[in-house]
Amino acid sequence: MRRNSYLPVPGELVKVVEETPNIKTFRIVPEEEFSFQAGQFIELTVPGVGEAPFTPSSSPFEKEFLEVTVMKVGRVTTTLHALEPGVKLGIRGPFGKPYPLDVFANKDVVIVGGGVGLAPLRALFLTLMEEKEKYKKIIFCCGAKTPEDFIYKESILDKWHKEFSDKVCFRITVDQADEKWKGNVGLVTTTLDGVNEEISDFDKSVAVVCGPPVMMKFTTFKLLEIGYKPESIYLSMEKNMSCGLGKCGHCMMGPYYVCKDGPVFPYSKLKNMPKIWD
Ligand SMILES: Cc1cc2nc3c(=O)[nH]c(=O)nc-3n(C[C@H](O)[C@H](O)[C@H](O)COP(=O)(O)OP(=O)(O)OC[C@H]3O[C@@H](n4cnc5c(N)ncnc54)[C@H](O)[C@@H]3O)c2cc1C
Ligand code: FES
Repeated sequence: MRRNSYLPVPGELVKVVEETPNIKTFRIVPEEEFSFQAGQFIELTVPGVGEAPFTPSSSPFEKEFLEVTVMKVGRVTTTLHALEPGVKLGIRGPFGKPYPLDVFANKDVVIVGGGVGLAPLRALFLTLMEEKEKYKKIIFCCGAKTPEDFIYKESILDKWHKEFSDKVCFRITVDQADEKWKGNVGLVTTTLDGVNEEISDFDKSVAVVCGPPVMMKFTTFKLLEIGYKPESIYLSMEKNMSCGLGKCGHCMMGPYYVCKDGPVFPYSKLKNMPKIWD
């Protein structure tokens, strides 16, 4: 039987990981079977406060729990950040369209993420790693303001390099180094320098970008400059949402409902719209 999309599935918060001073990852065990695909989002209910949209950051192949990585910005997220394991939450969804993995198959995939924008990209990356043979080269570009500001530090700075070095080229940067940092220093767009030499055919390559609006804007421009076509650049758009179902109109962007037609869009669908980076 199809679940009522307005009714949240109860779930228990079982683990909280402090990623940075204002970003935490929350592991939730749903009381009913709950699955999603990378790029889709959920509405998370914090009882007594309200709900807010988040893209799960855990692997969609993980069936026991799901994780969301959340930056503290306002009412719902501040309450969520104060919660301890044991609390009951609610999950609605999944909503929206996932990353089109059928389009990515047999292509090089360049992933570019910054800040909390790495959340949906972690779900995407872990999905690609489950079926590595389906994709060609994978280049994962990650940026943070400082080494301390990386979310998923252990994975991005160490674990994934050991586990996936046969398939993935990591390009990591920080805007500002500390005394321990030995890697690249520069904005995340600098990780794309020379990527064009590694891509043999731009018709057989896609780029996926998620991060703060200004980062997505300059990364998209750089990808266009190095040879990507607008239809091969996939962006995750965030708009204020309410129903998540294409009914209330809160999330309209030009002719699209971000909750239903997105949140993942190829840049070709957005490029002529005003204020997409606001
Ligand atoms: C599809 C989608 C996926 C998202 N995934 C994530 C994620 O994985 N991790 C994460 O940390 N955040 C994510 N967000 C943003 C997150 O939904 C907002 O930060 C959250 O709704 C803020 O709720 P609040 O009650 O704490 O803030 P509020 O008290 O409502 O507002 C505080 C501030 O946040 C801004 N804000 C409020 N709602 C949104 C919104 N929906 N998008 C952008 N800014 C907003 C307001 O302009 C205000 O400045 C996502 C948003 C969308 C639409
Ligand atoms: S959130 Fe209601 S139409 Fe998109």
